[in-house]
Amino acid sequence: MTKKRVGVLISGRGSNLGALIEACKAPDYPARIVLVVSNVPSVQGLLRAEAALIPALTINHKDYASREEFDAALDKVLTEAGVELLCNAGFMRLHTENFVTRWRDHHLNTHPSLLPAFRGLHTHARVLDEGAKITGCTVHFVRPEMDTGPIVAQAAVQVLPGDTPESLAARVLDAEHRLYPHALRLVASGAVHVEGEHVVGITQIGDQAPLFSPPLDEAL
Ligand code: GRF
Repeated sequence: MTKKRVGVLISGRGSNLGALIEACKAPDYPARIVLVVSNVPSVQGLLRAEAALIPALTINHKDYASREEFDAALDKVLTEAGVELLCNAGFMRLHTENFVTRWRDHHLNTHPSLLPAFRGLHTHARVLDEGAKITGCTVHFVRPEMDTGPIVAQAAVQVLPGDTPESLAARVLDAEHRLYPHALRLVASGAVHVEGEHVVGITQIGDQAPLFSPPLDEAL
């Protein structure tokens, strides 16, 4: 099996990067990480990459006069490393349209909500403010507008009474750590692809039970 060459973009802690690194250790996993790039110096994610002996570097956006120049520098190192699939994992910069076009349908992002609900920042606080009963996370292909693009996979997470943004964030993050490697496997293996702005290809799914929150037996 030829493993797809993956680049990962981070801005901080890099726990999703950690989940992808773990997944890539499986011999039958269809991808391997060949480069990690952070736009913020000295973040924890860079240490995770170094510990896994993955080439990692910082391209500090503050060193560039414009978003275009920053994205051009990013594209250069990714191209030179032979990256075929790009994964944003807690990467906190918006890309230029040129960059998005260059990586179109080869570029994934994880977002901590069930898109298209709760795009943008402070998702968990907003979920709690709205009184939503179910939230979750989404892995999607990147498009120019923030947190939009064809959805590859989603996981649902119940909002529990007494949840704080922090407690909810921790459970959603745990779901992301399982969802992102799953979604990357689907894309890297060629099991799914984009057709007319929808991700298609999965013809058979396992458990089809809907998730109820509160659970059905407590609802009466
Ligand atoms: C994740 O919840 C991601 O969806 C959001 O920021 C968080 C990044 O966490 N954009 P980490 O850096 O992967 O630990």
